[in-house]
Amino acid sequence: MVRPSRSTEARPARALTIAREEFARRRRQLMKSMGRDAIAIVPSAPVHLRNNDVEHAYRQDSNFHYLTGFREPESVAVLVPGRPQGEFLMFVRDRDPARETWDGRRAGPAGACRDFGADDAFPIGDIDEILPGLLENRAKVFYTVGVHREFDQRVVGWVNGLRALAKHGRHAPYEMVALEHVLHEMRLFKSRGEIELMREAARIAARAHVRAMRRCRPGMHEYEIQAEIEYEFRRARAEPSYLPIVGGGANGCILHYRENESVLRSGELLLIDAGCEYECYASDITRTFPINGKFSKPQRALYELVVAANLAAIAAVKPGNHWNAPHEVAVQVLTAGLVELGLLKGKVPALIKSQAYRRFYMHKTGHWLGMDVHDVGDYKIGATWRALEPGMVLTIEPGLYIPPGTRGVPPQFRNIGIRVEDDVLVTRDGHEVLTDGVPKDAAEIEALMAAA
Ligand code: GLY
Ligand code: MN
Ligand code: MN
Repeated sequence: MVRPSRSTEARPARALTIAREEFARRRRQLMKSMGRDAIAIVPSAPVHLRNNDVEHAYRQDSNFHYLTGFREPESVAVLVPGRPQGEFLMFVRDRDPARETWDGRRAGPAGACRDFGADDAFPIGDIDEILPGLLENRAKVFYTVGVHREFDQRVVGWVNGLRALAKHGRHAPYEMVALEHVLHEMRLFKSRGEIELMREAARIAARAHVRAMRRCRPGMHEYEIQAEIEYEFRRARAEPSYLPIVGGGANGCILHYRENESVLRSGELLLIDAGCEYECYASDITRTFPINGKFSKPQRALYELVVAANLAAIAAVKPGNHWNAPHEVAVQVLTAGLVELGLLKGKVPALIKSQAYRRFYMHKTGHWLGMDVHDVGDYKIGATWRALEPGMVLTIEPGLYIPPGTRGVPPQFRNIGIRVEDDVLVTRDGHEVLTDGVPKDAAEIEALMAAA
């Protein structure tokens, strides 16, 4: 038997992707909720310039991708439930050999129909001519206002243009409905296909964190570790789902640390918050480990407290528990532990009530995760936290942050920033931790680093 080479281990056995039928199913489900007197207009993401005529890497709009799977800019999807000549229309860039030589291949209208299931497709340049006719005699327009501002103006222009023709007997829609209200609720519940992609995004990011632990040495720079992480992402066809945070020592206490430029010093901890995006689905992992491979006693005491909070919060992820239950559990564990270590003084319930823990733990324990790293979906229904249900994916990310110079804290506990973050799927009987490919147990991390 031939042993697989290391380079093939990074790749899934087959390319994972969302099946064409699933995109069609999503469109059908959305149209059912909209009703037959409605139309939905969903634009692609605009291209963002980095400087002069150089562009940022293009990332498709998540709602547009969710409904079409189409990757190109300057595209618009239109859903017209019950329209006899076709319900799913696309406006896309026309084929253009000269432009394609410069900017890359285009599907064109024919490709939009052939490969993406559009019932009909038109060049984007024809949209002003065609769209008003589609809006006519529809009562409601499902559209997300305020995200793509320039496109907002065009939608308003089409509707107002029709209104101005009322005396000629043309009927304009009279109601704008927030598309995201329906669509984001759909996106909150992940299908089997989506979960497979999220497992893959989590596996890749877990491998990247393991690589960072193995490669880390005192004297390296934070950006060198960032490079190790990004190497592991890219070779697996993934890319960062947000700018990786690689913070040694005091930098680990800056929640959204971005510079990644400092030297890593022996005796300090390294906090890495880095996740990737695979086929438009995100992972989001944080691990914290000793730069020299061995936790000091005070570092280990605080670290094990954060891991205990992480584990207890994960245990609270199950159907029936409400969204905030894991956070409440994490706060309970952290507060009790801080009292035990002498960093907080008083009775635990009173310290929780007064939010005394916020000095050291100032953020929430997680967020929804999906196509967006801070994914869509309501956290409350009315005034109450919503119940967790199978198919939802969330992060669990408790931490403790004690920058140098923190007053009233024994010196041995200063200069320590710790967060331990996992991605967790709610299942029928509890949960599945998607990110268990990277260790968080202190002894396991030390063993892994010692063997590197
Ligand atoms: N990496 C962003 C977050 O953890 O929410
Ligand atoms: Mn994170
Ligand atoms: Mn997160």
